[in-house]
Amino acid sequence: MKNYDAILKENIYWARETFAKIDGKFSKVTLRSRDKLSDGVDKNGFHISKSPSGWTSGFWGGLNHLLYNYTKNEEYLKTARRSEELMDPALVDFAGLYHDVGFMWHILSGANYRLYGDEMSKNRNLHAAASLFSRYVLSGGFIRAWNGHWGDENVENWTIIDCLMNLPILYWASEVLHDDRFTQIAKAHADMAIRDHVRPDGSVAHIVEHDRETGEPVATYAGQGYAVGSSWSRGQAWGIYGFVISYKHTRDEKYLDAAKRIANYFIANCSDDWLPRVDFRAPSEPVYYDSTAGAIAACGLIEIAKEVGENEGGAFLNAAINLLRALDKSFADYSPENDAMLGYGTVRYPSRKEYLPDVHISIIYGDYYFTEAILKLLGADFDPWMK
Ligand code: GLY
Repeated sequence: MKNYDAILKENIYWARETFAKIDGKFSKVTLRSRDKLSDGVDKNGFHISKSPSGWTSGFWGGLNHLLYNYTKNEEYLKTARRSEELMDPALVDFAGLYHDVGFMWHILSGANYRLYGDEMSKNRNLHAAASLFSRYVLSGGFIRAWNGHWGDENVENWTIIDCLMNLPILYWASEVLHDDRFTQIAKAHADMAIRDHVRPDGSVAHIVEHDRETGEPVATYAGQGYAVGSSWSRGQAWGIYGFVISYKHTRDEKYLDAAKRIANYFIANCSDDWLPRVDFRAPSEPVYYDSTAGAIAACGLIEIAKEVGENEGGAFLNAAINLLRALDKSFADYSPENDAMLGYGTVRYPSRKEYLPDVHISIIYGDYYFTEAILKLLGADFDPWMK
């Protein structure tokens, strides 16, 4: 395996060209989607605007921050700031919020504060962090994912692997407030995830139910995966990226080890074409893809590659580039007429028909993480998940 530098050098021209296509597209889309909290697209290719309280609402503004920071095209910054205003009703939607406030605000308000020092954005992000902090179950040592009951089902003591991506807002709040309780909670939750979500073979469980008093796991559920014990690829990707981010914030080696374990499992289970299947343990036919899993995993693999040194890093960088090149070749639409870029995302699997269409569609966070990954290759100076 070639080392990190050699692999990056071989691919840098492609990464630059790919970014030029991304910028060419979104410099047009940002003008017409400025007043939307964009998620997927309708049948005409126009962004659909989602509720401010939904977990995906920050990605469109976050994507515009990434693009502004690299290009300095002011139109992107205008859209990012408009997104923040559109999300304000969610800040006071107490019952409608759950653990995903980190996804929602840290890459948007958190970015606007860290990059440009905006005090209002800082306060929005602190409110979001405090809301996540309040979800910690002290006796069990975990952050509750969702609220209350779903029908007869009590979900109060459920954790999901995705929550690792919410922890950066807690690390950030600790630093800004000089209050290490936020970091203590983030680390307690990440430790729980190593113990209860990561399986010995490096795959991860999506949902774990805990005993509220002891924190011990009492059940796992398939959640987004094909079945209990299966391996939902986006969940594996959240694990890779989430753990390496916790490592970067804390420098605690156990988080890097966990990220590498899941990464090695992910790489070993990719198909020869590197197009991410929705679940590594689903039947091989029919084939369902999830482009978002590839984009998120690529971000995590690049970060692992940067942390482990240039010799070991080659394998992780190579896998990331294989994933990104496959998405670029087979699933990306750079035409400005279509508001979305990546196709073949899968929101839920197995599909729940009340929410159709939710398989093989464009999803905003696919576009967000694909762009973030390409910018990592280009050496962009802002990492939205760091302090
Ligand atoms: N965080 C929710 C999902 O990945 O579907």
